[in-house]
Amino acid sequence: MTARVTAPGVVLVGTMGAGKTTVGRILAEQWGVGFRDTDHDVEAGVGKSVQDIFVDAGEAEFRRIEAAAVAAALTAHDGVLALGGGAVLDPSTRALLADHTVVFLRVGLSDAASRVGLGVARPLLLGNVRGRMKQLIEERAEIYLSVATHTVDTDGRPALEVAAAVREAVGR
Ligand code: S3P
Repeated sequence: MTARVTAPGVVLVGTMGAGKTTVGRILAEQWGVGFRDTDHDVEAGVGKSVQDIFVDAGEAEFRRIEAAAVAAALTAHDGVLALGGGAVLDPSTRALLADHTVVFLRVGLSDAASRVGLGVARPLLLGNVRGRMKQLIEERAEIYLSVATHTVDTDGRPALEVAAAVREAVGR
């Protein structure tokens, strides 16, 4: 039996389609800790899907709620935490991340677009999945790198392999 490691405290960041939720769940299982996802926290708190929050309240309001959810999760959760792809746009969130082990799951356009499919549940991609995704990957690359303590490339790699690479990177 593989020994389980406790209290990893790893935060996963990256664009939509980077595999944060899939890889995060694998890591949590392997480490024997909880997995938490801030998109889910936002949805549970508001009682609406991310998509509906964008439609009903707008992106700025979503970002405000998201920043509060991230701040809460960073103090209350000691397992694996996946942040929504745009959470790092908030300067206060970036400041909070400075105290954590943050892994940037880097993905290129082709893999990201194929992982999200038509992206119906992702309002920022509606209408032009590949075009919007390309723009987000380019716009945010430096921001992800600036908050990351480790970067793991995910292109062409199955989730289990990415999880193994994260474990190697963080040494747990
Ligand atoms: C967003 C990413 C989504 C979700 C929302 C906005 C973004 O999360 O928070 O649709 O700005 O990149 P995932 O990265 O988990 O899909």
